[in-house]
Amino acid sequence: MTDDRHYRMPRVLKDEDDLNPSNPSATPSFQDIATLRFSRRAALKGLLATSALTAVGTALAPLQRAEAATADSTLKFAEIPHAYDANLHVAEGYEAQILLRWGDKVLADAPDFEPGKLTADAQAKQAGYNCDFIGYLPLPAGSDNSENGILFINHEYTNPHVMFTGFADAKAAAAGTTADSTAIELAAHGASIVEVKKDGGVWKTVDGSKYNRRLTLNTEMTLSGPAAGHDRLKTSADSSGKKVLGMINNCSGGWTPWGTILTAEENFHQYFGGDPAGTAEADNYKRYGMKGEPSYPWGKFVDRFDVTKELNEANRFGWIVEVNPYDPDFVPVKHTALGRFKHEAAQAVVSADGHVVAYTGDDERFEYVYKYVSTGTFDPGAGVANSKLLDEGTLHVAKFADDGNVEWLPLVHGQGELTEANGFKSQADVLIEARRAADLLKATKMDRPEDIEVDPKSGKVYVVLTKNDKRKAGQVDAMNARAENKWGHIIELTPPAKDGKTDHAATRFAWDMFLQAGDPKDAAQGAKYGGTVSDSGWFANPDNIAFDPKGRLWIATDGFPDFGVHDGVWATDTEGAGRAITKHFLGCPTGAELCGPVFTPDGQTLFVSVQHPGEDANFDAPSTRWPDFADNMPPRPSVVAIVKKGGGEIGS
Ligand code: FEO
Ligand code: CA
Ligand code: CA
Repeated sequence: MTDDRHYRMPRVLKDEDDLNPSNPSATPSFQDIATLRFSRRAALKGLLATSALTAVGTALAPLQRAEAATADSTLKFAEIPHAYDANLHVAEGYEAQILLRWGDKVLADAPDFEPGKLTADAQAKQAGYNCDFIGYLPLPAGSDNSENGILFINHEYTNPHVMFTGFADAKAAAAGTTADSTAIELAAHGASIVEVKKDGGVWKTVDGSKYNRRLTLNTEMTLSGPAAGHDRLKTSADSSGKKVLGMINNCSGGWTPWGTILTAEENFHQYFGGDPAGTAEADNYKRYGMKGEPSYPWGKFVDRFDVTKELNEANRFGWIVEVNPYDPDFVPVKHTALGRFKHEAAQAVVSADGHVVAYTGDDERFEYVYKYVSTGTFDPGAGVANSKLLDEGTLHVAKFADDGNVEWLPLVHGQGELTEANGFKSQADVLIEARRAADLLKATKMDRPEDIEVDPKSGKVYVVLTKNDKRKAGQVDAMNARAENKWGHIIELTPPAKDGKTDHAATRFAWDMFLQAGDPKDAAQGAKYGGTVSDSGWFANPDNIAFDPKGRLWIATDGFPDFGVHDGVWATDTEGAGRAITKHFLGCPTGAELCGPVFTPDGQTLFVSVQHPGEDANFDAPSTRWPDFADNMPPRPSVVAIVKKGGGEIGS
């Protein structure tokens, strides 16, 4: 198996700006770390992974070690091995049903997918490229129906070297960009909304459903909140500063207590060409990594993607977008009150006293974790009218301390450093340049904040940090405890209780290290689990997470191929003897990362996105032809439904 591993080629079109972290601020790092904070429970049990391994040693055969590792877990599936090949793998006894592939019909009049003969018109009616976040919305609205619902699916980015013939790699494809390919890629971004139904144990999309819809970079959306209508958001096509065409690089997302979807615009900087130097937005755009060298040279063909032709267009991306999939006519809303940065995701919950709190991370090395707290309170009877709660409130940024506390600092114009003297004339400026505002508040620089989710059972908040190989020894702190962190970690936040409920709106939480990924057999990596993990139970580069109905954590990875192992899904308990002991459930085909895990309310289906299969090769000589494995078919990013053969709860 190790002989034919395909190590992932460096991405040119990547979902993070790996080469050039753009945070220049000099927040002091914690230089003296007396003790690495880690799960108090694990420490009490004396089960720190490294010491456990020292005790167990390597005398145990792999199978014995796997059994020893997983005896404490409530997750009862048999783990799959680490591998790296052209196929999708799932634990024995489970079935992977391919539900929606790139190019599959979404709108009723969509033509059949024809590889090598793509058109923008067809693409705008078919499933887009690189599926990411998945939201499952039961039908009818308000029910917990687990066999009929709507899927909301992000299409984060395009890989033209795998979509089109004739390009060796992403760089060659970028150089070969045309007006036609640009139009196709604009239509391949955005989201798909499809009704799905489980019939005889098999999930299928519902052709012709009134809910089926495509959102693309040409779909009209509105801007709302404090920055909407500001001069910095006006363009030659939109003098109101409130109407935008489309959303871009929508990575992960979340949902609201009133049943809508929040979808996160992440690496918007990759799409805007033209050198902003010397313009009014030069410092702003530099802070977001825009240097006139976009991965996607669309600006040659579409003026709004060239900042020298349309300076403000890039200020209209990088927001959290709300969509109501139950209403096919809903105009998506970009909520500026949640700030502009490279949002990985957003998860909204109701706090103890009714305020709506949305957690959201900025996925780049040395960037920050944020939360938004609404001014008003949630009205369970008001439905989508609660959406206005996302327009008036306070964005906060996290400042962690190595004593186990975290302070949420408000980003409010006129307070502290956020004044005109520092270039912030209004709250709109604070939100448009949220990163610079957070720099001035001396927020804590993290190892690439990815997904953030709230455990529905405990109310604890889990923050995923995927990696940061640029962190130097002098920059290590308790929260980002490893220099050259190639593996990533997960932090657990505990909000205080108020009247017996979780006070997500509080300005002070406690935090704990949930796990540090990596191979525990190599002590130099500093991996920390809740106990001994099996030979395939360890992983690297956690990215998206999901909770099952039992409150167990399912972790999807992006980057493990750099270690010669497929990306996939690992699962763990968050409480009890199996806490932070991960087990390997699913593995991706060559080149792919795993995104979007989400369960149906009954826990019997796990939907996942297999994103960028074959990204490590190209259309003409693919490294995999998953999922079709037909001679003329390229690899196709696809949404997959995982079910237990014969039915039953996943993982039980
Ligand atoms: Fe698009 Fe941060 O992953
Ligand atoms: Ca992601
Ligand atoms: Ca990622």
